[in-house]
Amino acid sequence: MNEELIIGISALRAEKNAIILAHNYQLGEVQDIADFIGDSLELSFKAAECEEKLIVFCGVTFMAETASILAPEKTVLLPSLEAGCPMADMADAESLKKKKSEHPNALVVTYVNSSAEVKALSDTCVTSANAVKIVSQIPKDREIIFVPDRNLGAYVVKKTGRKMILWPGFCPTHMRITPEHLIKRKKEYPDAKIVVHPECSFDVISLADEVLSTGGMIKFAKKTDARRIIVATESGLIYRLEKENPDKQFISVSEQAVCPNMKMTRLEEVLSALEKNQHIIKAPENIAKLAKIPIERMLEASRR
Ligand code: 13P
Ligand code: SF4
Repeated sequence: MNEELIIGISALRAEKNAIILAHNYQLGEVQDIADFIGDSLELSFKAAECEEKLIVFCGVTFMAETASILAPEKTVLLPSLEAGCPMADMADAESLKKKKSEHPNALVVTYVNSSAEVKALSDTCVTSANAVKIVSQIPKDREIIFVPDRNLGAYVVKKTGRKMILWPGFCPTHMRITPEHLIKRKKEYPDAKIVVHPECSFDVISLADEVLSTGGMIKFAKKTDARRIIVATESGLIYRLEKENPDKQFISVSEQAVCPNMKMTRLEEVLSALEKNQHIIKAPENIAKLAKIPIERMLEASRR
């Protein structure tokens, strides 16, 4: 069955000169047919720089939307329209406008896990791969509103020593990971290194050997001498880690670390996306124009 789907996807991809991008949390079957797999930052760069004019984005809405804002001349398809991000939904434009009016001199630093409307009201975007670097570059006397992830925000506060006004958003998947999960795993595998995503709570982050984006975890796994790694993020990452490092053992922190939205895209949806040109993701032009500014600032700061 999968073979037929894969043949269909390959034929249409070639016929339409499309590129298939997949986030690191996608199902193994989707990662296997993707042209490029990465974290949010790597996927943004790829979407902006690739030559193909048709992008099939296997991820969640804000990722496809970011790609279409960066490359408005390209068509970006999200195979599963229901694949949203609950954290992104925790910040809306009206509430952010109100917060900005209470702090008129503050800069708004927005995690890419957010809507185009919220990005359009922001000064710069960040991902988990570059948030510390970008916030450190902001002049010390500027007040900062950090939207929407309070956990990533608290981690950035700890690393930079900057005070920030933290939006109360969070990722439900990463919040299900508890310090007890990590302590249990560390007892089972005392020699293992612990890598933690900064969307986890501060108590979980405190137990980490390394705090990394999903792309950072992929790089760390390749270069470390550790033979075992406990992975405190969405469990889909384990598939790529195992595939690329067959000599190492990767242990998911908890069976609860699953993002349902990242699992909505299967080969069937990818094939339908290519067959029917669905679902086109595009923010309204006026919003997209404004949202592009903080996203490009982020990409520029990441290159420095
Ligand atoms: P990364 O940018 O680290 O891949 O994270 C994206 C995300 O949604 C994590 O939940
Ligand atoms: Fe959103 Fe969390 Fe899923 Fe990432 S893992 S897409 S932040 S809900």
